[in-house]
Amino acid sequence: MSTVGLVEECLQDPPQVHKGIATGVWATQRTCYDFILSKVTDGSTTLETGLGVSTVLFARLGCSHTCVVPAQVEIDNVTAYFDERGIEHENVRFVTGFSDEVLPRLKIDPVDLFLIDGAHGYPAPIIDWFYGAQHLRRGGTLVLDDIQLRQVQALDAFLQKDPRWVELSRTDKWVAYRRESEGSLREAERKQPAFSAPDSLRDQILQTTETALRDAKTVARKVKYRLRRWQGNRRRWPLSRGRP
Ligand SMILES: C[S@@+](CC[C@H](N)C(=O)[O-])C[C@H]1O[C@@H](n2cnc3c(N)ncnc32)[C@H](O)[C@@H]1O
Repeated sequence: MSTVGLVEECLQDPPQVHKGIATGVWATQRTCYDFILSKVTDGSTTLETGLGVSTVLFARLGCSHTCVVPAQVEIDNVTAYFDERGIEHENVRFVTGFSDEVLPRLKIDPVDLFLIDGAHGYPAPIIDWFYGAQHLRRGGTLVLDDIQLRQVQALDAFLQKDPRWVELSRTDKWVAYRRESEGSLREAERKQPAFSAPDSLRDQILQTTETALRDAKTVARKVKYRLRRWQGNRRRWPLSRGRP
């Protein structure tokens, strides 16, 4: 199957699935779709939370795709979109429900690529990662959209510090990691390098500067106190009269 121009076609004719936006869909950056296209092929096993242009792309790429989304109307609209355009979608499975309810029970083959782009309220992206990314095979790809949101940055910051997640690509809107482990993401706190790794140089510099400033203030306070005492003594025992 030729994939030349596929992303462009998806973006030129997006599914009308989301209300409250002129284009009818909350799409991400084109570079994210280009990246997904570079990572999956016909027959790849893929998973996403949320639905939109990405769903159309996964379907058109011939992936064995699972899409978790709570709004049945979005599923109906994208299914109608597929049918109207003669896009095959027998390999696309929709699971209706909130990802925090669906993902813990989801049965799926090892996943090649997982896109997290569903609910963005904290800690939804983290829950999606914990229950969805456990299915990512070793070497599989995780894509997080909307890293401009602090709710998503919390997860991104953790992954950045864990060597089992290797950053592959990043823009101001999305980031992708390769998983270097496999299976469940449940683990004891002492096994999490993200929390035991030495702080970044910037953090270390900030910490050292803060300590130095605090120490300097203490020294200044002591000097001021001694100066006052010395001045008080001078007033009480002026040099002309001599000290008793
Ligand atoms: C930003 S859109 C997804 C855009 C899509 N990835 C694309 O490329 O066009 C967010 C989607 O998440 C869905 N969503 C909202 N809350 C969700 C939840 N708790 N679980 C799964 N999906 C959810 C919305 O219905 C919507 O389809």
